[in-house]
Amino acid sequence: MKEIYSAVKVTDTVYWVGAIDWTIRDFHGYATSGGTTYNAYLVMADKVTLVDTVKAPFKDQLLSRISSVIDPSRIDYIISNHSEMDHSGCLPQIIEMITPEKVFASPMGIKALEDHFHAGLDIIEVKDGDEIDLGNRTVTFLETRMLHWPDSMVSYLAEERLLFSQDAFGMHLASSERFDDEIEDWRLEHEAAKYYANILLPFSHLISKVLGRIGELGLEIDIIAPDHGPIWREKPGRILELYRKWAEQEPTRKAVIVYDTMWGSTEKMALAIADGVVSGGASVKVLKLRAAHRSDIATELLGAGALIVGSPTMNNNIFPTMADTLVYIKGLKPKGMIGAAFGSYGWSGESVKQLEESLRGMKIELAAESVRVKYVPDEESLAACRALGEAVAEKLG
Ligand code: FEO
Repeated sequence: MKEIYSAVKVTDTVYWVGAIDWTIRDFHGYATSGGTTYNAYLVMADKVTLVDTVKAPFKDQLLSRISSVIDPSRIDYIISNHSEMDHSGCLPQIIEMITPEKVFASPMGIKALEDHFHAGLDIIEVKDGDEIDLGNRTVTFLETRMLHWPDSMVSYLAEERLLFSQDAFGMHLASSERFDDEIEDWRLEHEAAKYYANILLPFSHLISKVLGRIGELGLEIDIIAPDHGPIWREKPGRILELYRKWAEQEPTRKAVIVYDTMWGSTEKMALAIADGVVSGGASVKVLKLRAAHRSDIATELLGAGALIVGSPTMNNNIFPTMADTLVYIKGLKPKGMIGAAFGSYGWSGESVKQLEESLRGMKIELAAESVRVKYVPDEESLAACRALGEAVAEKLG
């Protein structure tokens, strides 16, 4: 294959050979406004090893980058750390094309790859703590089940003190820069937080365990090479620290108001509540559902102390955008938040009760009495909204 795309040197032995997806804007329901990358790595050890592949349409980009270092047919081993198709999509074709000596995956990875491709791939099982010898390099595997799929594992290249971490510590960000020290800190932190909030939040208790395990095993990590976004070579400790903090889900004095509106009444209520939160001494973020994507709402909730939801009643139900968002947030299993509900209605007025039920279903304690308004709020109703905001702020402590 002609060299069109180049590999990027990570260490003397390891090259990034992934693909940049500049145009993706929806990653299974996650808004990827900055695109993403599908990272794969080539380890130029005695046994030349490819760690993960890329999404199927990017196969030629992967092969081209590998070709800039070595003829792909000289790859001896492939490691599949994660079977989701953004990393395994072209694995069967790559195996067929280069016929590697061995392919490795976790026990659940082997099952998942078969369930995806039904190809009878010949894959060797590696379990937690297993090592493989690449001649002059050694790879140790750590199973990280449910981070974020049952098959997930990470691979540690001891001689380079480098962790191939698959999705963990990654972010959806397409960039020409490959390393953390080439991108602004605020951008790294925002995109990593968004990734954590939308992909890893439900598994926070497992993240704390894995981080503890890395400590117990005494793994020295100089470089974290995830499957999306930049490689952490300057500040691997920073992303580990952020994961520790996010996994704890310690609530802050921040309330997030999420609402939708038909004729502006619920919006007026939202703004009065927001002012109440601020006058109560807490900070607030106001998000209108038709102006904010669900994945940005999830990001705002990471570390928030309160979720306040508002919806008009439409055909005896909450507004459809609110139903979408509540299902999404429930699935992310946020912990430690208090909440409140509000909404306007014309005649039947079921929305507020439904919002309260949803919050209870997420184990979010109701911190203030809900406010319901018929048609359009008057001054008294808006004062009640403001009082709701103040009550939430007070409960945030
Ligand atoms: Fe990037 Fe879980 O796949």
